[in-house]
Amino acid sequence: MLKFNNGKFKILIFGDIHETYDYKTNPKFKDMQKLMNAALEEYKPDLCVLMGDNCSTGEVEKDPDGFKKMMEAVIKPITDRKIPVAAILGNHEHDHGAEDKVVEICNSIEGLIMRNDTPEEITGNANFKELIYSEDGKTPEFCLWFIDSNNLGEDKDVCHYDYVHSDQIRWFEDESAKLREINGGVPMPAFVFQHIPVPEEYKLFRKAKIWELPWATRGFRGKSDTFYMLKNGCKGYLGEGPCAPDINNGQFASWKRVGGILAAFFGHDHLNDFSGYFDDIYLAQHKTSGFRAYTDGCHSMVRCVTIDENNLNSFTDEIKHFKEFGLKCECLGPIFRNFTDRESRNIHIAADALYVLGGVATALIGIKHIKSRGERKNGKK
Ligand SMILES: [Fe+2]
Ligand SMILES: [Fe+2]
Repeated sequence: MLKFNNGKFKILIFGDIHETYDYKTNPKFKDMQKLMNAALEEYKPDLCVLMGDNCSTGEVEKDPDGFKKMMEAVIKPITDRKIPVAAILGNHEHDHGAEDKVVEICNSIEGLIMRNDTPEEITGNANFKELIYSEDGKTPEFCLWFIDSNNLGEDKDVCHYDYVHSDQIRWFEDESAKLREINGGVPMPAFVFQHIPVPEEYKLFRKAKIWELPWATRGFRGKSDTFYMLKNGCKGYLGEGPCAPDINNGQFASWKRVGGILAAFFGHDHLNDFSGYFDDIYLAQHKTSGFRAYTDGCHSMVRCVTIDENNLNSFTDEIKHFKEFGLKCECLGPIFRNFTDRESRNIHIAADALYVLGGVATALIGIKHIKSRGERKNGKK
């Protein structure tokens, strides 16, 4: 049972770790664990959350024991301290069609919370909620929703990454109504944790002015013709266009309808750690906390969110990066180890600019060629 502790409840969040089966010998695993240990020592949380894309699932059917050992190794710094840890599914846990196996194995690991509370016909393999109780364990006071944001859209040309489906939203609304009843007829304050962000994250941005382009970030897919900056009042870093679903299925609108949702936390985009309010709901993005998939030099991060029992509608959050813990990175070479956020983003912008310039140059050469052929045909020299 999750309970407030001296009037506070601290949640330490780890993004996209992407651990793979060679963890025993790979220095990337060791560096990730250094960050985990340092953050656990500093924040001493009541709960940890893994934001999905946690461990490679490529061999889970062939080697389920190996998967279990890998997952246990990833969370060992947490479970050694007897701190509970909840984990959600990312798109990559869905990649190999073994999601049920992943949930079954995770559910069997002591101290790890991952399960499916929804009936089988409801979309997703791990939709669940956990309540935080008063210190005496008698009264549920706060709800944590863990939602499976699925994998890829049915028609990837229309919607590349999937959204939370309408049946999942209906389940969330039905369960929220029950919580309202036990909470004296008012919505229970709550957070949402899910891997793929809602499209409303783009509401935290504004279009970049032409002179701001070196500091701006290009949108994803349908928004790729626009470069964005964070709006005033938002904090953190926008390093890539959020890979939200191309279709807005109304999940954010449902949060507003139901009430009580104070904040939503997302993984999936490994370079972003921005956060800000849209329509009174705090949207917070997580960078990777590891070094496995694409990273941002030594900027792997954690976020600690603290809920105040005496004022359940307020919370604080703080992010801290690998380098800021004073840790030494061993897995990245000297260039990548010293890469900054800004440099990595500017390389993307320079690559985009070169691509456009290349296209223009090719078009100009083509026009010149056609023109000179025309002139030769007309007998001109
Ligand atoms: Fe990921
Ligand atoms: Fe992902």
